[in-house]
Amino acid sequence: MRRFIIAGNWKMYKTITEAIELANGLKRELMDCTSLDIVLCPNYIALEEVQEVVYGTSIKVGAQNVFWQKEGAFTGEVSAAMIKDAGCDYVIIGHSERRQYFAETNETVNKKIAHVLEHGLIPIVCVGENLKERESDKTFQVVEDHVKGALKGFTKEQLKDLIIAYEPVWAIGTGKTATPEQAQEVHKFIREIMTKLFDEEFSGNIRIQYGGSVKPENVKDLMSRADIDGALVGGASLKVDSFVEIIKTTEGITK
Ligand code: PGA
Repeated sequence: MRRFIIAGNWKMYKTITEAIELANGLKRELMDCTSLDIVLCPNYIALEEVQEVVYGTSIKVGAQNVFWQKEGAFTGEVSAAMIKDAGCDYVIIGHSERRQYFAETNETVNKKIAHVLEHGLIPIVCVGENLKERESDKTFQVVEDHVKGALKGFTKEQLKDLIIAYEPVWAIGTGKTATPEQAQEVHKFIREIMTKLFDEEFSGNIRIQYGGSVKPENVKDLMSRADIDGALVGGASLKVDSFVEIIKTTEGITK
């Protein structure tokens, strides 16, 4: 049985003050939700404060990015040790916005995964096709490329806690969600790739989140699918009510 994992990707929203306020609101409502994993991913400078708010609860904190070097003259970058020291357990790697605006590639994603694993952080690795790729029937090819490129060179022992997030780029922040059938089809495909790369036991244990306009209204249908094990939520994670509803709805799903 794979445990659901719901993560909120706050992107470049919320000042430190606003992040503390949101985290406090979520903590109040979600204190008793212990049957699934909940992760909050604020911007770098709010990580420590958000961690202080949720400290002692089962809510965890994650960063939205990382650099792959241990330390050095890399102005503006943040290492896994720094993220770990701020109290984080997770790091989002290879989000499509990073790939699109900050030249993230499968190679940099691979290096970042290696770096966070060395520091005992859990990578949430984002994969997914854009609209042009979906329309030209390249979805499976692109997703396979992302998954294989990200996981290249690791053993299954190293990747035992890995989280994959399937996020069709055309569904991110657009209000357009992949249908549960479209999402399930790709999630199943990702599991098959991992079976080929490693084995069935490994792929059966790895959690695959869906991301892209997840909302209280569509979360039940998505999370009820066999291979969907959680959500990476952007817009709807920025308000207490909608994020809480997404989590509480998911808590009620048994499969
Ligand atoms: P969205 O973002 O829920 O606003 O579509 C999801 C994501 O980018 O992780």
